Amino acid sequence: MTNLITYYSRTGTCKKLSEEISLLLSNCNTDEIFDDKNYSGLLGWPKAGFSELSKKETVISYKKNASSYDNILLITPVWAGGMTPAARQYIKEEMKGLKNLYILSVCMGSNSKKIADTVANKYKFTKKAWCITGLEKNKEQIMDEITKLLGK
Ligand SMILES: Cc1cc2nc3c(=O)[nH]c(=O)nc-3n(C[C@H](O)[C@H](O)[C@H](O)COP(=O)(O)O)c2cc1C
Repeated sequence: MTNLITYYSRTGTCKKLSEEISLLLSNCNTDEIFDDKNYSGLLGWPKAGFSELSKKETVISYKKNASSYDNILLITPVWAGGMTPAARQYIKEEMKGLKNLYILSVCMGSNSKKIADTVANKYKFTKKAWCITGLEKNKEQIMDEITKLLGK
């Protein structure tokens, strides 16, 4: 089984997490999604929230073709209770090539079950959706589940 971790990260949390998870999985490559829009800095926060709330489309770039892998683990921050424009755009563009899609959302304090259920309902073809929430300290449990599903 080949695994691809594709992540979007504004401030580095999802990037770091993708590096951690890639060490737990065999046959694993990682790929970063870049959003054309600049969400950095103080003003980037409200701009990002608005983009997600209004479900705007965006222009993204990434390197690896999802159809070359058995499993895709998409890692995205939670913005305003949703995913990110970059993650939504990625699914839209790669949908046809996705074999097994897993989505891991990462946030500070939102209810993890509510976020994961919302994502799974929106993308019904997703094999499994999780949400790591800083407040719930559920990272280890989810990392274990991911390793069991996609690991060696
Ligand atoms: C615009 C915006 C909206 C956010 N909305 C939420 C939210 O609804 N719930 C939450 O718990 N965290 C929220 N966060 C926090 C991020 O999800 C969290 O800091 C995440 O780990 C950042 O990942 P990154 O460092 O990879 O960009 C939000 C952050 C931004 C920038």
